[in-house]
Formats: sequence, C-alpha cells, structure tokens
Amino acid sequence: MQSEALRQILHLDYAPKLPQDKTKGIGIVGAGEIVKTCHLPAYRMAGFNVVGVFDSDLGRAEALARQFGIPKSYRSLEELLSDRSVQFADIAVPAKYQPRIAAEAAAAGKHVLCQKPLAEQYAEAAALVTAFSKAGVKGAVNQQMRWAPSMGASRTIVSRGWIGEPVQASIQVNVRTQWEQWEWLTRMETLEIMYHSLHYLDAIRYVLGLVPESIYADGARFPGQPYVGETRTLLHIKFPGEARGLVFDSHNNRQPQDDWFATFRFEGTEGVVKGTNGALYNYPVGREDTLSFYSERLAAGYLFTPALEGRWFPHAFMGPMSELMLSVEENREPSNSLRDNLTTLKMVFAAYRSMEENRAVRLAEIE
Ligand SMILES: NC(=O)c1ccc[n+]([C@@H]2O[C@H](COP(=O)([O-])OP(=O)(O)OC[C@H]3O[C@@H](n4cnc5c(N)ncnc54)[C@H](O)[C@@H]3O)[C@@H](O)[C@H]2O)c1
Repeated sequence: MQSEALRQILHLDYAPKLPQDKTKGIGIVGAGEIVKTCHLPAYRMAGFNVVGVFDSDLGRAEALARQFGIPKSYRSLEELLSDRSVQFADIAVPAKYQPRIAAEAAAAGKHVLCQKPLAEQYAEAAALVTAFSKAGVKGAVNQQMRWAPSMGASRTIVSRGWIGEPVQASIQVNVRTQWEQWEWLTRMETLEIMYHSLHYLDAIRYVLGLVPESIYADGARFPGQPYVGETRTLLHIKFPGEARGLVFDSHNNRQPQDDWFATFRFEGTEGVVKGTNGALYNYPVGREDTLSFYSERLAAGYLFTPALEGRWFPHAFMGPMSELMLSVEENREPSNSLRDNLTTLKMVFAAYRSMEENRAVRLAEIE
C-alpha cells in the first residue's frame, strides 16, 4: 500500500480541533449533571478558561465552582451576562428554559453554546436563528456525538470516499435507562427521540453528509414504565436517491449489561465502517469506542481495525465549544451552528408527527 494512503488511514482526524486562543472566558448557565460529568472535565482537558457559573439553585452553582476551582458563582443570569470577562455562554438547563436564556445571552453580546435539544418547539429554534443573526453573535449546539471518536472517524472515512457512495446507515441500541435520574424528563411526552435518539439522527446525517428527505417513525412505551413518553423507537430515514438510515433504540433491556448493545454501521457501494459506541457499555463508566472498516478502494479483502482514543463522554464535549470558539477566531459559521441544527430538529419533529399520523413525514413539512 502507498505510504500516503497508510498515513491517512492511521490519521482518521477525529480529535476536536482546538482554538488558538484558549483564554476567552466561558460562563456556564446550569450546574447540573451534564456540566459536572462532561462539560467541565472536557474543558479542563482542552485547557479552556471557565470564569463563572450560574444556576437557579445557588447552592449547586457554588458547589460546582468549589469542585472545579471556578472563580465566580453568579446570583442571577443578568450578573453573568453583564460580566465582561464572559465571551461565551455555555447553557445546560432543561430545554424549555433554553430559548429565553439563549436569546438574552445573544442580546448581551455573548457567543452561545446551547444544549440539545435546542428547543422543544421548532418555531422557537427558528426564532433563535433570527435573533442571533440580528445580535451579530455566533450560536452553536452541543451535538457532541459528532466528536465521539467513532463518529468523527466514520465521517472521515465516508467523506474520503473509502466506502464509495453511502447507501445505508444504522444505529442500534438496546440498553436500560433509568430516566428518573432526570426527574423533569420523566414527565416529558416526547422523551426518547427528543432527548436521546436526536444524537443518532444528527450523527447519521453528519456521517453520511446528506440532508434527509423524510422520516417514518414508530415509538412505544414499555408496559408499566413510570415515564410519560416513548422509551422505544424505530426511525426510518429516507435520503434523496438510494441512501437510507435506520435507528432502532430501546431503553428497556431487563437483562444484565453483557446483553446491552450500541452498534453502528455505515455501508457504501464499496465498503463499510462499523463498530460500537463505548459510552453505553460498562455503563456509566463506559469504554473506548470500537471501529473497523472495509474498503474495496483501499485494500480489497482487508479489514482495518484502528484503535480509537478518547470517548463520547466526556472527551467529545471539547468539540462543540472548540468549534464555536474557532468559528469566532476564523469569522465563519460553526459547523454545529443553530442554523445547521434546524435540520436535526426537523428530523425530530418530523418523527413525532409521523408517530401521530402514522405516515412518512417530509422534513419540508416542518416549520
Ligand atoms: N449533550 C448531551 O449528551 C446531554 C446529556 C445530558 C443532558 N443534556 C442536556 O443538558 C441539559 C441539562 O441536563 P442535566 O443532565 O445537567 O440536568 P440536571 O437536571 O442535572 O441539571 C439541570 C440544572 O439546571 C438548573 N436550572 C434549571 N432551570 C434553570 C434556569 N432557568 N436557569 C438556571 N439554571 C437552571 C437546575 O437547577 C439544575 O442544576 C438538558 O437540556 C439536557 O437535555 C445533554
């Protein structure tokens, strides 16, 4: 094999690219579990400068500030937004509060990283895009699965044309999720797709580099479950031409963890890339993702099995914030921009409409 091809194969280019200037201040809104377990550990790895934290529960903000050596805990959102040392607001509160906070942060001149889902109504998300462009600041969404090592590497492999024309994507998950860890989620009528499988919808369109046309979705509950929303989903995604995607996701596995699985597979006309999503094995500790790929173009008859470094949780959380910072440095739209996220949200809302009306729903119907 040519040494240039070998060099490229060994470098699957999935690690987040960091900004040149890491001193710009980050102000966190929401001192909950995801900030403690993922945002802050990842920002520490990246060397980012977190200057303060606000939570409507001051005690939580103060405890988090102590734990991570963050200089300030703010008593109000206004206090955070008027702090000139904050250039980036990093929001991680339940989605129903996010649009108002994001709009206020933009109006105060902050660049903003929003959590997923960006909003619980499509129109609210679309209104944010307009508000941000009026305010002249950048907004991005924390769809950090794009930076999970297996997804980043898959994207590289597909975009280099190594599996030929992409025609089929599938992500299949069968685990047990105790949704009561997030009490507010147990009452959501739209649960699994809105809060979990939207990662897979986003990752599939990202890896394939295609915009979906329509979705057919089915969702169900598990008998006796203490949650309002769906906890099992089947999503069929149709792209223009021959490409298709499938998400099968059940959070009701009653067996010990050695029966759980979280796999992905992207097939093309000349190969396949496949593997496992390590975050959902050995839960909640996780393990490294695995990946292998076959490419008739590179080496027919040979299965590449590169080892991947880093994990979805927390390493991938460096990605969305880095990309937002880079977009400011380079004065361009971030790849995970609010505008880009509208396509992922259209997939989510098309899926729920499909479930209600038992038909395939085109993304163009969502507005
Ligand atoms: N990207 C991911 O993979 C991922 C994973 C988990 C959670 N999330 C998202 O992150 C967000 C937070 O999730 P979590 O698991 O940390 O939840 P959590 O319940 O542990 O924490 C939420 C925090 O927000 C605070 N809060 C609520 N309303 C507020 C407001 N108006 N202003 C300021 N603080 C407020 C609460 O006091 C709490 O401390 C949710 O939107 C969730 O969907 C994303």
